[in-house]
Order: sequence, then structure tokens, then C-alpha cells
Amino acid sequence: MQTLTLLIEKLKKNRILSETEFITLLDGLKEDTKAAAMLQQEAQKTALEHFGNAVYIRGLIEFTNFCRNDCFYCGIRKSNFEAVRYHLSKDAIMECCRIGYDLGFRTFVLQGGEDMSYSDQAMYEIISTIRQAYPDCAITLSAGERDKETYQLWFDAGANRYLLRHETADPEHYRKLHPPRMRYEHRIQCLKDLKSIGYQTGTGFMIGSPFQTTAQLAQDLKFIHELQPEMIGIGPFIPHVDTPFKNQPAGSAERTLHLISILRLMRPEALIPSTTALGTIHPEGRELGILAGANVVMPNLSPLDVRKNYLLYNDKICTGEEAAESIEKLKEKMSRIGYRIVTDRGDYRKGDDCHV
Ligand code: 5AD
Repeated sequence: MQTLTLLIEKLKKNRILSETEFITLLDGLKEDTKAAAMLQQEAQKTALEHFGNAVYIRGLIEFTNFCRNDCFYCGIRKSNFEAVRYHLSKDAIMECCRIGYDLGFRTFVLQGGEDMSYSDQAMYEIISTIRQAYPDCAITLSAGERDKETYQLWFDAGANRYLLRHETADPEHYRKLHPPRMRYEHRIQCLKDLKSIGYQTGTGFMIGSPFQTTAQLAQDLKFIHELQPEMIGIGPFIPHVDTPFKNQPAGSAERTLHLISILRLMRPEALIPSTTALGTIHPEGRELGILAGANVVMPNLSPLDVRKNYLLYNDKICTGEEAAESIEKLKEKMSRIGYRIVTDRGDYRKGDDCHV
């Protein structure tokens, strides 16, 4: 009991714990509701100090669900022949941006599977066109593993940020979640390349992914400490019926919230979304994530007719407050817990300057 309180204090002060301490903390929090409440309050306080009660919004455009990869957990893996595949044309993507801009979005997130039918050059053109049309907006890409030259090309086209979850920082665990073609070392190299090019870089992992141990979560935290990503996205694993992991249990909302709070104490300035997956496994997941220290939400801007096909996991929410059209409802929900949606770009800012 006493130890957990001390560990939270220590984490707040040093922004890191040893692996053993992280394990003690993570396992202890399951039983000790008082310590869990303290952690949540400290993390919320830290987020408030840095961002006030502002919550940034990002317009998520799921531009393709074709993927060359076969991650065992993911509903759009290439071996899922049940998936109804789509990809958006440049015009359709521009239309999403137009709608998003009018709704107040100043960050567009282009997320998709590793769909090689978009050549490097085609992506360059899409990114440049968005950049020219919306000079005041941030462009975030989430399109998987590519060569450094490709990342550089897209950066030169005007992209500012890149999201690539490392998924797990234990190479052995990585091999249990992915087929042999996918290499942990390559993924980490991609993250390093992205950082060195100058992208604001996001990484992250799933909570409760199959075979995950608390020690592996501790490794994920250590990895985050070493990489110092500007953005950190985490969410519970949720099984998808048409994947090899269909019978595996989902990750816990509670544990996800503990990890959001720990990450906030480790990285006070980081942009941490309260993710769709968290909103999917818990009716108030989005709000609880914000209260645990997250400061970003990413409503869905994809065209309505394709939204239901971008199913990474089952029962993904796609018609409620997470939809960009329901921004008023989202504002209301956030204001009920004392937060306000802001429409500026919300770039990562280092240092003691707060964003308030
Ligand atoms: N459950 C939860 N999250 C998932 N992702 C992929 N499949 C699932 C799933 N079944 C996450 C991965 C990926 C991100 C885009 O979505 O972490 O990086």
C-alpha cells in the first residue's frame, strides 16, 4: 500500500521507474483502488498544468483498409477474406478534409493499412494537395512501415506527424503477434528514421494483447522513455472474429487507464489520445481516458459508407460521439467532465511553457 504511493511519487519526480518497480506498480494498482485514485489524480493534475482543460481534436481519415501485412490481431490483415476492401481516391480524401475543416478540424490524420497501390509519388501528391489547400492545418500520417526516403518525401510534401505503434517492445512477444515477415527491428528503425527526419512521432501499444505479461508492459514503458515520442497512443486489445486471435480475451479498460496515467506522468508534454478502442470497451471510455490524463480525441472523418469496413476489431464504434459529425455531442460530453474541445493544431511543445 505504502510502496505504491511512494512509487507514484517517484515516477512523478523522475519520470521513470525501474522495470521491477513498474511491475510492482502495475500489478499493485489492480488491487489497490486508493493508489489507483491517487495515480489518476496526479496524472490529471499534470495534464491540467500543461494543457489546461483543453482537449485537442484530430480528424481521422481511414483512407484504405487494404494491407500487405498479416498481423494476427488485426481485422484488416491481408488473410481476412471477409473484409470488404476499399480505398479512397485523392478527391474523396480532399472531400473528407473539406468537411473536416468546416467542422473545425485543424489536424487531418491519414490512417490506413500498408496499401502499396498508393505509390510514394501518389501519396506525395495527396499530401501536397492537402498542404496547399490547408496551410494552417497539421497533416498526420499513419501508413505503416516504409523506407526512410519515402518518409522523407512525404515530409517534404508537407506532412508533420507520423503515428506508428511499436505494438510491443519485447521482440519475442512481437513474433507472437506478427508473422515472420514482419520484423521488430525494422519497426524500431522506422521510428528512429521518422524522428530523425523531424516528424512529431507517435508510438504505442495495445493493453492486454495475447500473451502479454506485466513485465512486457514495463518494457513498453521503458521503450517510451528511451524514444521520447511526441505522441503516445494506447488502447485495449479487442478480438476480431475473422483473425487467429478471435477467442482471446479483450484487454481491460481499467488497466488502459492506469497506463494512460503512468504515461502522462512520464511524458507531461506528450499528446496522448483517449482512443476509439477505449471508447469501444467502456461506454464512458473516452471521458475516463481524458480524466486519466489523455488530451486528444480523434473523431472519425472517413466517408460514412466506408466507415463500417475499417474494422480493426469487433464492435468498433462508428456512429456516435466519435463521429466527426457529432462534434456538438462530443463537446457536450467533454464539458460535462469540465473540459473543452479546442480547434487549434495542438502541436507538441517541449519545455516548461504550458499550452494554456
Ligand atoms: N484491438 C485493438 N487495437 C487494434 N489495433 C489493431 N488491431 C487491433 C485490435 N484487434 C491497433 C494496433 C494498430 C492500430 C492502428 O490499431 O495497435 O497499430
